[in-house]
Amino acid sequence: MDIREYLESKRRIVDDALKKYFINRNLFFEVMHYSLERGKRIRPILAIASYEANGGKDIKEILPIACGLELIHTYSLIHDDLPAMDNDDYRRGRESAHKKFGEAIAILSGDGLFAYAFELLTEGDNLIEEKYRVVREVAKTVGPNGIVYGQFLDIQEYSRPNPKILRQIHYNKTAQFIALSIKVGAIIARADEKIIDTLTRAGIYLGILFQYTDDILDIVGKKEELGKTPQKDLKNKKITAPLVYGMDSARFRAQRYAQLARGIFTQLGARFEVFNQLTDFILNRTY
Ligand code: IPE
Ligand code: IPE
Ligand code: MG
Ligand code: MG
Ligand code: MG
Repeated sequence: MDIREYLESKRRIVDDALKKYFINRNLFFEVMHYSLERGKRIRPILAIASYEANGGKDIKEILPIACGLELIHTYSLIHDDLPAMDNDDYRRGRESAHKKFGEAIAILSGDGLFAYAFELLTEGDNLIEEKYRVVREVAKTVGPNGIVYGQFLDIQEYSRPNPKILRQIHYNKTAQFIALSIKVGAIIARADEKIIDTLTRAGIYLGILFQYTDDILDIVGKKEELGKTPQKDLKNKKITAPLVYGMDSARFRAQRYAQLARGIFTQLGARFEVFNQLTDFILNRTY
């Protein structure tokens, strides 16, 4: 199957599942759903792809967890866009949450998504041990040893940006969570521990690659395609791959990370071929 068709069909499945959790509840759920809409759904799709590649047969087992990941990701975007953080008024092709609803409601809606995610992660009475493990892994990856720490590092001012800081930012704010998305799919599919570890290692490369392309698109991307405002220049002093390495080397390094990820996915065998295609998509994406 063409990777774009694959992404589109999985995205639809995730979007329908998300609607079930948010539509026809109350105004606050509608507010949260506004920010959820229109995402690429890369993280839930990675979780589903991993679940299926690892032999999972009942998508209902992974779908609530995949949705939970998207809620956490969306919360992180709402807070990332706030005036006190990146101060971005445009997200997913329209006004960001604080622009649309005001700062207080945006903050609450991030809080709501973050907490509600754990209801989804633990939904149902089956796979209790696996879900316990997933919750621990998620908590570890999105808090002070993961996304929140990455965001903390991201907003510091650095007199001399260097590769080590860049790596720490990319690893914490993005790569661990991308790797985790693949990992939870494997956990819920009851994959071998060795495969879980190997996939997680590849996921880190994929996640670093993901943030490289995000940084690069900040300079060369188009607003209409990205659905967010590119920064265009390096003046805002954010530590990004093009700032640290220059555009040509940043692109070259992105390709290297893609190769590293592909090397591992290829080694894992034909059933992981979709991950090679996902890697290429993430390398070449324009949005
Ligand atoms: C943007 O993530 C934030 C990063 C961690 C780089 P995505 O590019 O996945 O954004 P959406 O979910 O498609 O809006
Ligand atoms: C945000 O990184 C990563 C998060 C954990 C939210 P960015 O600030 O680069 O994300 P965008 O470019 O605004 O989507
Ligand atoms: Mg940011
Ligand atoms: Mg931002
Ligand atoms: Mg960015």
